[in-house]
Amino acid sequence: MKGIILAGGTGSRLWPLTKRTSKQLLPVYDKPLIYYPLSTLMLAGIREILIITTPQDSDDFKSLLGDGKSLGISIKYAVQPKPEGLAQAFIIGEDFIGNNPVALILGDNIFYGSGLGRRLSEVINLDGATIFGVKVEDPNRYGVVETSESGKVISIEEKPSNPKSNKAVPGLYFFDETVSSRAKLVKKSSRGELEITSVIETYLIDDKLKCLNLEVNTVWMDCGTVDSLIDAANFIKSVEHKIHFKIGCIEEVAFRQGWIDRIQLKNLADSLGNNEYAIYLISLLENNSTHVR
Ligand code: TTP
Repeated sequence: MKGIILAGGTGSRLWPLTKRTSKQLLPVYDKPLIYYPLSTLMLAGIREILIITTPQDSDDFKSLLGDGKSLGISIKYAVQPKPEGLAQAFIIGEDFIGNNPVALILGDNIFYGSGLGRRLSEVINLDGATIFGVKVEDPNRYGVVETSESGKVISIEEKPSNPKSNKAVPGLYFFDETVSSRAKLVKKSSRGELEITSVIETYLIDDKLKCLNLEVNTVWMDCGTVDSLIDAANFIKSVEHKIHFKIGCIEEVAFRQGWIDRIQLKNLADSLGNNEYAIYLISLLENNSTHVR
C-alpha cells in the first residue's frame, strides 16, 4: 500500500500564523505537525509516501524530510496549485498510486493510541474503501457517517447542517486502486471543492465501503484552529512527560519497524546536535528491542 499526506491548504483559520508558513510545518510541542501523520502511515507499515503541498511551501518540506532514505522509506513530493479539495489528491497522485491501494492522511490530523499501527496494518489488504467513525460533539464541522446497528454505512455527508449522526470521519482513509478513476468523475461541490465524501460515496453506492470505529483508547486531533493546535501540543507534552515516550517520532518508528539499524539511528541523532530530541533517540539505542509499539 502507498500513502499520501495532504499538506497543502490555506490554513486561513490560523492566520496570521500560517500567512508565511505551512500549517503542517508549525510546531506541535517538540516536532513539526507533519511528523505525526507521517509517523501514523509508517506505523501502518507504509513505506512509499507522497507529500502534496502548496507550490510555495514545497521546498521547505523537502529540506525538512528529504527523500526519506535516512528513515528507510521513500518520500516523493507533488504540488497542488490551488486548494481545490481533498479528493484532488487522487488526481495529483494518480501516477504515484498506479495500480496500488492507497492510504490518505490529512497533514493536520494527529492519531495516537496503543496498538494503532497494528490495527491500521490489518486494514491494508482491502477491496473497496475503509473509513473510520468517531463520536464528536460538533459533527457539522466534519464529514458525517451514519451507520446501521450492524455497522453498515447508510450515508455520508460533508459538513451537514442537520447531521444524521454524531459520528465524524477523521482524516485517515484507505482506498483500493480504483480511487483515482473515481475521483476524476466527481464534480465540484457548491463550495468549489472536490469533496472526499463524494469519492467515498461512490464506494457506498457500490457496496464497497467499510466504516470502523476508532477504538476508545485512540485519540484523534485535528489541528485546524488555534485552540485545537495548542490543545494538541499540551496533550502531546503531557503524555510524553508521563510515559517517557515520544508520540510521532518518525526516527523511532523507522527503527522499531526495522527499516533503519542502530548506526543509522545514531547518525540521525548526531545530525540533530545536542538537544532533548537527540538524547531521546540515543536512549533508544540502550534498549535493544525493535518491537513496534
Ligand atoms: P482544512 O483544514 O479543511 O483546510 P485548510 O488547511 O486550508 O485550513 P482553513 O480551512 O483554515 O483555511 O484542510 C484539512 C487538511 O487538508 C489540511 O492538512 C490541509 C489539507 N488540504 C489540502 O492539502 N488541499 C486542499 O485542497 C484542502 C481543502 C485541504
